[in-house]
Amino acid sequence: MNIRTLDDLLAEEVTGRRVLVRADLNVPLDKQTGQITDDGRIRAVLPTLGALVQAGAKVVVCSHLGRPKGSPDPAFSLRPVAGRLGELLGAPVHFAEDTVGDSARSTVAGLADGQVALLENLRFNPGETSKDEARRGAFADQLAALADAYVDDAFGAVHRRHASVYDVPARLPHVAGRLVLREVEVLGTLTGEPDRPYVVVLGGSKVSDKLAVIEALLPKVDRLLVGGGMCFTFLKAQGHEVGSSLLEEEMVETCRSLLERAGGKIMLPVDVVAADAFAPDAPHDTVRADGIPSKRVGLDIGPETVAGFAAALRGARTIFWNGPMGVFEMAAFAHGTRGVAEAIANADAFTVVGGGDSAAAVRALGLDEQAFSHISTGGGASLEYLEGKTLPGIAALEN
Ligand code: 3PG
Ligand code: MG
Repeated sequence: MNIRTLDDLLAEEVTGRRVLVRADLNVPLDKQTGQITDDGRIRAVLPTLGALVQAGAKVVVCSHLGRPKGSPDPAFSLRPVAGRLGELLGAPVHFAEDTVGDSARSTVAGLADGQVALLENLRFNPGETSKDEARRGAFADQLAALADAYVDDAFGAVHRRHASVYDVPARLPHVAGRLVLREVEVLGTLTGEPDRPYVVVLGGSKVSDKLAVIEALLPKVDRLLVGGGMCFTFLKAQGHEVGSSLLEEEMVETCRSLLERAGGKIMLPVDVVAADAFAPDAPHDTVRADGIPSKRVGLDIGPETVAGFAAALRGARTIFWNGPMGVFEMAAFAHGTRGVAEAIANADAFTVVGGGDSAAAVRALGLDEQAFSHISTGGGASLEYLEGKTLPGIAALEN
């Protein structure tokens, strides 16, 4: 890979230079209070920001948050993130009320060497996500005008062909930040020659989201363990009734063909926690995966499945995990995700957790992050990397 790195930039003089850092500070917020519920993505860019501060750069951070529709929306303001970022950096972060307007320009102009500013949500501007090159380019021009150099540390967004990810690096000297480098290095291990057995655990709600990665991984892995909402479409493909569990009817045929081609590599649940309703206090019990009663909904994998998955993980040398095994946000249906996460943490293997939800699950369940070799900040980005797709944000750094 022909990519210049943060160290290359630091080796030049950056003192007093304005450095635009594209970060992925798209953190989950509590719907009621607006509080940040998981600051993992903020902590993940601290090494890059800290190094730039240390070197005396004027650090201008930009990010998206959520999916606002191209105009300002207070529910998606990055202001709370500026507060948290300042706490973690141990120095106040100057917040610009817009992204490329008067506030952004004056905030950046007011920065002293070693100070940090955060611009308001990139997606408050239609140019950020526009499919129209000229429109995106015009926004990229405005962003690039705020800085002298560009650092991409937004691994979670490298699969997006957005102005701040794809077009700004064409306009400024550009390098990869520490997080992007680490992510690419780790995922490169998985697409290269991983130590075997290589076991992948996939969960989450939809097969359709994971189809491309399953196709790409099947020839590479020794075992593919499937849990989460998506397992029910596979169970249906095996001819089982799944009650009122999540089901993608139009994917059943695809799952059948995947199971045929997998030659026994795909492991499905043998038992399931089935509930009367999708609710934290719904009456529930463990049933056989081939006998889910018609009115019940499967919300987690059962204990026998956890034991079987754990046994497969115990002998693994390389593990990739994406997607929760059940509705882990509800305590009654968190045992599957916890059991699998613990089995991965205890395995004597190179272990990678991919994706916003699985990473959040690790922290929400109070598991030790250090027990995993790497927790990726990218959901879609890590899956697209493993699919072998060209990621626009990485390609832009290579030029
Ligand atoms: C994510 O949360 O996966 C990244 O921040 C990208 O967000 P997006 O899917 O809204 O582009
Ligand atoms: Mg280059």
